[in-house]
Amino acid sequence: MPRVGSVPSLDGEGKPIWVLLELTYRCPLKCVFCSNPVDFERYGEEELSTAEWKRVMREARDLGAMQIGFSGGEPTLRKDLETLVAEANELGYYTNLITSGIGLTSRRLAALKEAGLKHIQLGFQSSDRQTANWLAGVDSFDRKLAMAREIKAHGFPMVLNVPITRHNIAQIPEIIELASSLGMEYLELANVQYYNWALLNRDELLPTREELAWAEAEVAKARRRLGDTMTIFFVIPDYYEGRPKACMNGWGSIHLTIAPDGAALPCSQARTLETLDFPTVREHSLEWLWRESPTFRKYRGAEWMKEPCRSCDEREHDFGGCRCQALLLTGDAANADPACSRSPHHHVIQEAVERAQAAKAGSGTLIARQGGLASGGGGA
Ligand code: FES
Repeated sequence: MPRVGSVPSLDGEGKPIWVLLELTYRCPLKCVFCSNPVDFERYGEEELSTAEWKRVMREARDLGAMQIGFSGGEPTLRKDLETLVAEANELGYYTNLITSGIGLTSRRLAALKEAGLKHIQLGFQSSDRQTANWLAGVDSFDRKLAMAREIKAHGFPMVLNVPITRHNIAQIPEIIELASSLGMEYLELANVQYYNWALLNRDELLPTREELAWAEAEVAKARRRLGDTMTIFFVIPDYYEGRPKACMNGWGSIHLTIAPDGAALPCSQARTLETLDFPTVREHSLEWLWRESPTFRKYRGAEWMKEPCRSCDEREHDFGGCRCQALLLTGDAANADPACSRSPHHHVIQEAVERAQAAKAGSGTLIARQGGLASGGGGA
């Protein structure tokens, strides 16, 4: 593998082993921490056809992809989901459905099983009906609970994914109890990452240091009690880490997202980098997009790095952190991720943390995902 300095530089030699297909931006929910772009309506309504998605999957497999996720928006809104899963299975992928559960039925679960779906990740907002419905912006709790039981009844391995914010962090013991009673193999207490809608609402969502320390202790207690029966993932937000996360294992390194309109993205947040072009699979082969596209080459390896990343002894581990977070919080995607305490912009993270410490939950206004802020409204 070619190297730049001592940092692995894939330069098109690497494989997109983990592919995420965002089948649609449409979604029945209006979550206040939605990771879709805040202006998703800008990208047009022409989603890739069944034949186009099949071609993408074939080309990605030829490039060495092994694991595929069907996501959105809400992927079950696509009537061809079962057909796409069957094709992915045929091609030899490990298939994962990332869903809110709204749009699933027992009949569709049986069809997905038949199509060869291997794993389901179900998003859940809270153990409490009122909080869950409020965070999702629609009444969805009962339906999700019913679907969690149906998914288990159909024998799917499953992870319950619960985005954690200050509005549900105190419910962690009850959430663990609920997941355990549902027979989950995995529970992901996913501290929200602050992009897109979550960034708009950050001052209202970011937990305090004390809340996180309490939650970590509760998780440790539950792990001791539950032993091997359920694995609980809990990672504190990078705002509190002092070190940046090795986002996507490095830009254009192992991950490829395809947006509903076919744009090839190095991560699902990448459209926030407005200085870059995101050509689509309608214009180019996936091989060209992955290996040659200036967008994928832009932040591969280490040549793009500025100080302090360029000479940092951690650069082989964290790759300078997250390009999207660097852009959103410092105005330049080539800056060190400000979550890093060595970044000259680290103060913006510290200031956000201080605001979270000072703010009381419920004192501000949460902006629910809606039909694209840039276009001025409409329902999702
Ligand atoms: Fe885009 Fe981290 S989310 S590089």
